[in-house]
Amino acid sequence: MERTFLMVKPDGVQRGLIGEIVGRFEKKGFKLVAGKLVTVSKEQAKAHYAEHEGKSFFDSLITFITSGPVFAMVWEGDDIIELSRMVIGKTKVTEALPGTIRGDYAAHTPFNLIHGSDSPESAEREIANFFDESELVPYAKSIATWV
Ligand code: TYD
Ligand code: MG
Repeated sequence: MERTFLMVKPDGVQRGLIGEIVGRFEKKGFKLVAGKLVTVSKEQAKAHYAEHEGKSFFDSLITFITSGPVFAMVWEGDDIIELSRMVIGKTKVTEALPGTIRGDYAAHTPFNLIHGSDSPESAEREIANFFDESELVPYAKSIATWV
């Protein structure tokens, strides 16, 4: 079982897509273990996107991500990091296929609606940047009780 950090970005919140996005992960069969609406501070944003510091799009990315509330979440599931990024779709809107969240709803690359961790190490760091361990809610969720 793996954990990932998923975040509806400010554009997704403004466009009223929290429910649609959460629903996709629920229907896929993942388990939501934490979720909250937060306004990201500059420091938190820079820590979140530390790997991109120095790149041409970094400053505008920080401005965007701190521009309004985001919906931060922790989800659990087998291979969830790889699978959730498949549900999310490619970073560039011109490469994001229909059927993915970005492919269906995003038309401008920086405004691609949702973040998903790209490795177990990133997931651990990103979760700790947004959540206290006490905010993660453990509970049982059966996948196949009939077999
Ligand atoms: P990245 O981590 O590469 O993408 P992803 O969100 O798919 O993990 O980049 C972080 C965000 O930075 C990305 O969602 C949108 C923005 N970005 C740009 O605006 N231009 C770019 O060329 C890249 C690579 C990213
Ligand atoms: Mg990334």
